[in-house]
Amino acid sequence: MSDVVLKSLDAGVLRLTLNRPEKKNAITQAMYQALAEAMEEAALDSAVRAVLFLGAGDSFCAGNDIGDFIAIASGGTAPAEMSVFRFLKAMAEFDKPVVAGVRGRAVGIGVTLLLHCDMVVVADDALLSVPFVNLALAPEAASSILLSAVIGHQRAFEMFALGEPITGDHAFAWGLANRAVASADVEAEAQRLAGALASRAPGSLRATKRLMRDAAALWAKMQSEGEAFGAQMLSAEAMEAFTAFAQKRAPDFSRS
Ligand code: COA
Repeated sequence: MSDVVLKSLDAGVLRLTLNRPEKKNAITQAMYQALAEAMEEAALDSAVRAVLFLGAGDSFCAGNDIGDFIAIASGGTAPAEMSVFRFLKAMAEFDKPVVAGVRGRAVGIGVTLLLHCDMVVVADDALLSVPFVNLALAPEAASSILLSAVIGHQRAFEMFALGEPITGDHAFAWGLANRAVASADVEAEAQRLAGALASRAPGSLRATKRLMRDAAALWAKMQSEGEAFGAQMLSAEAMEAFTAFAQKRAPDFSRS
């Protein structure tokens, strides 16, 4: 595994740390591939009893790497071939417990990933956003159904459509997280919860999770979202949004 995703197994807990702090842990296609392989291996490895997602540096994850979006939108890879889909499928099908510890910024997949975690610890001052419309894209990771199921349609729509962040305290109050703690305590609390889950009866935990989630339906939704996301990614309005990000200016959708 490349060092942009750190992987360690201790006492049944597989820690996967996004490790690209200079880019706020924005996830590249290579990182998705590493994450997908880690989850596929973890599903088969009886030594892995729980998975813990963390981010190195001051932020959990700034979402998909926008440079990758530009490369894909400019030709080369078809959107459906993006490694993100292999990772999302692995997340939908994973039946062992998954915990996340979130500090700082969580954007895009940095939030939608949390909808596939079973327990989430956020920093009370974390900032969570899903600015897919600001990027002229569409929701992914089954978030078009999962986010509204957790926080309600109006709140979810506002988060998608206006793209403004909510704090960790809000995320906790809205049911997106099990705990909101001081930023310095996030990792220890998330590790404690993952350790507790790793000590429970593994067969029972897996049966419980399988009963609570419909993996096939989630994967079907991810694929239909992927079609909308892929079509938007190739649109002129998305290229304007990506270019604006690269040029550190606001996008201009007045001619879209
Ligand atoms: N893709 C590529 N690079 C990214 C990135 C992303 N998603 N998010 C951050 N970066 C890069 C920045 O371009 C910057 O690079 P530079 O130092 O070479 O200029 C570096 O990471 C640090 O980010 P910066 O914007 O300076 O930090 P900040 O604390 O001011 O803001 C964010 C942090 C996350 C709010 C801001 O970077 C941001 O909005 N990122 C884009 C989030 C996004 O839209 N993701 C896609 C969702 S689908």
